[in-house]
Amino acid sequence: MNNYILSIDQGTTSSRAIIFDDSGEIVEVAQQEFAQHYPQNGWVEHDPEQIWSTTLTVAQQVIGSAGVPISTIGICNQRETTLVWDKTTGETIYNAIVWQDRRTCEFCNEIRTEQNLTLIKEKTGLLIDPYFSATKVRWILENVEGARERAENGDLLFGTVDSYLIWKMTGGQQHVTDATNASRTMLFNIHTQQWDDELLSLFSIPKSMLPDVLDSADNFGTTSESIFGYSIPINGVAGDQQAALFGQNCFEKGMAKSTFGTGGFLMVNTGGQVYQSKNQLLSTVAYRLKGQTTYALEGSIFIAGAAVNWLRDGIKIIDTPEQSSVLADEISYDHGVYLVPAFTGLGAPHWDAEARGGLLGLTRASGISEIVSATLQSIGYQARDLQRCIIEDGIDIKFLRVDGGVAQDDWTMGFLADILQLEVKRPKTVETSALGVALLAGLASGIYASTDEINQGYVTAKTFAPQISLVQRDKLYQKWLKAVESVRQFQ
Ligand code: G3P
Repeated sequence: MNNYILSIDQGTTSSRAIIFDDSGEIVEVAQQEFAQHYPQNGWVEHDPEQIWSTTLTVAQQVIGSAGVPISTIGICNQRETTLVWDKTTGETIYNAIVWQDRRTCEFCNEIRTEQNLTLIKEKTGLLIDPYFSATKVRWILENVEGARERAENGDLLFGTVDSYLIWKMTGGQQHVTDATNASRTMLFNIHTQQWDDELLSLFSIPKSMLPDVLDSADNFGTTSESIFGYSIPINGVAGDQQAALFGQNCFEKGMAKSTFGTGGFLMVNTGGQVYQSKNQLLSTVAYRLKGQTTYALEGSIFIAGAAVNWLRDGIKIIDTPEQSSVLADEISYDHGVYLVPAFTGLGAPHWDAEARGGLLGLTRASGISEIVSATLQSIGYQARDLQRCIIEDGIDIKFLRVDGGVAQDDWTMGFLADILQLEVKRPKTVETSALGVALLAGLASGIYASTDEINQGYVTAKTFAPQISLVQRDKLYQKWLKAVESVRQFQ
């Protein structure tokens, strides 16, 4: 008999539910978008009630329409986004503060001493940045009336989105998270796999607020009967980027994936070893199975697919994203125009919040095709920036697996292979995050015996091999470096 697994993918702009059968085939999908709130410049919030209601709706929808019994549930989520709620009533005391939110910039600047940078990097693998949860929890405790006192009394709980959803789905029975999500809070020691007292005191966060940290394939509790009509165990949990790494079956050291959505997240498995990057990449937990932690290095770029949206919605030179590759294909790579899409600053490896975008190298011959090509190329060049850092950090990537919306575009993936001088592989299943937690849930519930068994089901749909020479690549890339330098100086 087939086993069916429900995956919940609670992302930044939408909640999705997917039912997989045990061969990894998609049986049913549903998706619902929800509102983004920008109460002040640089602030980004979600209504927790909407996170919950959209998740519940899509999950109930797929279960209803598939009409198959669900054996187990996996949850992946937008990472770092922070919620605080009352232990007794379950009511959140503030909106969810989203990972993109920059309100704690000033506090981060205050604590960014050499000593703290070293402390945080060594313990958590992260940099001091508003991106991570710690300063967001602190902000809520400092700014919501009565919050600090309630927290000190042990009445409030903190969780990332996975914790919050599990709390809701289990009727307040379980306050838990997995090691990948914990590793994004800036409160978790990734070596000891424990919440860290020194960091908790640096951010003035009471330990009683924190969830228990479980393996990524584990027993996270069972859903209340009232939700789906019967209880279902939750057995797989991971942050969405780690889930994609797992869904891409990057189980060996040196295997890497890049997810290109709004932004781009390149992650490489570093095995049982934490690599402390010398190049501003993050060290993070890739997954934890049976108490064994596998680590990853991660480079995040803020704008990938969002640059193509900008062509359509911002400067309106294309009507659909699909047109971009047709236009780019009309000309050769070396047209000399470069777009640095630092629309919201630059992520790894620069971490330059103040940088803004630039379009460089224009001549009278430059037209729409050149600008469109430069935009798609910027995705490849940024990935090359990350690849260089990974190589300099001592890790050898043999090929790159890709997923996310932009990975569906053949021209951009061809350029990516050229600029990385690596084979770029696109899998058959593009829902890699959802698949990743389905596989984790399947591992914990005994549907799959091992990652080796899972690996046998992996199918590459298309491989893009480099078509240009190393010399041509270097020539193109050197000018990109100059373009990045120019926009960073223009502040
Ligand atoms: O770290 C943030 C990341 O997890 C967000 O992913 O896909 O929801 O934009 P996504």
